Amino acid sequence: MKSTDVAVLEGVSRALSEADGYRLIFSEDDRSAIRRLEEVNVNLFLYDCCDEVPEDESALLRSRLAHTSCTRILLLDHEKVRSGHELANRTASYLFLFKPVEAMQLSLVAKRALEHAELSRRHRILSRELKLSLDDDIFHGVKESFVQGGYSQFERLVFLSPKMAELVSEAQMAAKTNMPVLIQGETGTGKELLARAIHFNSPRRKSAMLVQNCGGIAENVLHSELFGHVRGAFPGAISDRLGLFRAADGGTILLDEVSDISPQFQIALLRFLQEGEVKPLGSDTMLHSDVRIIAASNKRLERLVEKGSFRRDLYYRLRGFQLNVPSLAERPEDIPALTRFFVEKYAGVVGRHVLGITADALQRLEAYPFPGNVRELETEVQRMVAVAEQGGYIAIRHLSDKISKTPVYDRDKLPALTSEGSLKDIVERVERSVVERALDTYQWNQSKVAADLGLSRVGLANKIKRYDIQRKRRA
Ligand SMILES: Nc1ncnc2c1ncn2[C@@H]1O[C@H](COP(=O)(O)OP(=O)(O)OP(=O)(O)O)[C@@H](O)[C@H]1O
Ligand SMILES: [Mg+2]
Repeated sequence: MKSTDVAVLEGVSRALSEADGYRLIFSEDDRSAIRRLEEVNVNLFLYDCCDEVPEDESALLRSRLAHTSCTRILLLDHEKVRSGHELANRTASYLFLFKPVEAMQLSLVAKRALEHAELSRRHRILSRELKLSLDDDIFHGVKESFVQGGYSQFERLVFLSPKMAELVSEAQMAAKTNMPVLIQGETGTGKELLARAIHFNSPRRKSAMLVQNCGGIAENVLHSELFGHVRGAFPGAISDRLGLFRAADGGTILLDEVSDISPQFQIALLRFLQEGEVKPLGSDTMLHSDVRIIAASNKRLERLVEKGSFRRDLYYRLRGFQLNVPSLAERPEDIPALTRFFVEKYAGVVGRHVLGITADALQRLEAYPFPGNVRELETEVQRMVAVAEQGGYIAIRHLSDKISKTPVYDRDKLPALTSEGSLKDIVERVERSVVERALDTYQWNQSKVAADLGLSRVGLANKIKRYDIQRKRRA
């Protein structure tokens, strides 16, 4: 930066670092600038064009290719470079200034440029968040599952595991049809997200998708929510109510916790599925509505059918397509992908710069069983991002206790699974080894070990007895 006044650059440096904690790095020539660009993550690149037009090997042109998210500002000599506009276009620069510039002027421009870059970044994140509710035309062409940043995405559903890939391809098939879909899976596995993805990939995407939670709700209230009522149908019904089935005409309704509906309501729902008929409470008129039903449940409906608490005919009707979302423990490959996705999402939301997560912290996350599935992982990452240092990595100390204390087993050190013996012998050897290690890790605190291994205290005591595991005496 030979020709720019050193005092100007120092003035800029002072103004930026005092006000906002930015760090300025000076490089005397292109070669050292290129080296620094490789070493550090640069948000803003002020380039003083000492030469008439920078060569292809200049730091400026290199930064365009290698640092696409870095904002460039050019300082030009009016005598030498006539077309600042052409150069700014060629180098994808934010703007150019003719020298001489004042420190205050330059620092103000730099600050505005950084704010602009930050706003664009947040806008990108929020747009992605809003993607589901925006008019489909805007995002025409990105509706299919696609791979991005090491993971695949089906709308807002992020995944990497073959199990989820298979599920998504079934969901894409289901989306093209008009048939009811039954989505089953443990709490927090992403059933609602999958239902939304199906709706937004179906021919109904231009109409509404409405959600009704059927759990813990009185039958007449549920009936009136879905089928509507007429004025005076029951005490307190002071006006007519349309009901979701008619409000979502042409669209989709997600019936969440469908396992909880009463036998009486099961009949009404079956009739709607068979005939599309809607009879508001207190009315004699039969109305019609064209709504696609997606039902979700974290209880297995087939078990309720066997027990006799859920109608078999309704179950068959609901499961035009049956999609079972696996628990997160059944697809540990998704943990790193989801973690990366959530780190980026929440760092963006709170405006924090997080470089990523360390390998050993990620290993703990992978070892933790996540009974609350993806929802629990998301909450954990949100917390981790909030407590991580600005510009640093998420490390073990940022994890919550339950996860940082999760014993991580080195699979290579577990007894060789291929050694002789029947399957039962091998399983028992592994079980013994896992229990021993957990006891060591928690220094024989049996409540913690039981909680960690998902055993009852009695269950753990039985295993200790059965394998005759002895506490090692400390030397
Ligand atoms: N594959 C995924 N990719 C990104 N986010 C996910 C994924 N799966 C779940 N989530 C997030 O986890 C949270 C729970 O998801 P969702 O509400 O769809 O789960 P659910 O199965 O309907 O849970 P519940 O049974 O408790 O209603 C949401 O914040 C959702 O955004
Ligand atoms: Mg749900």
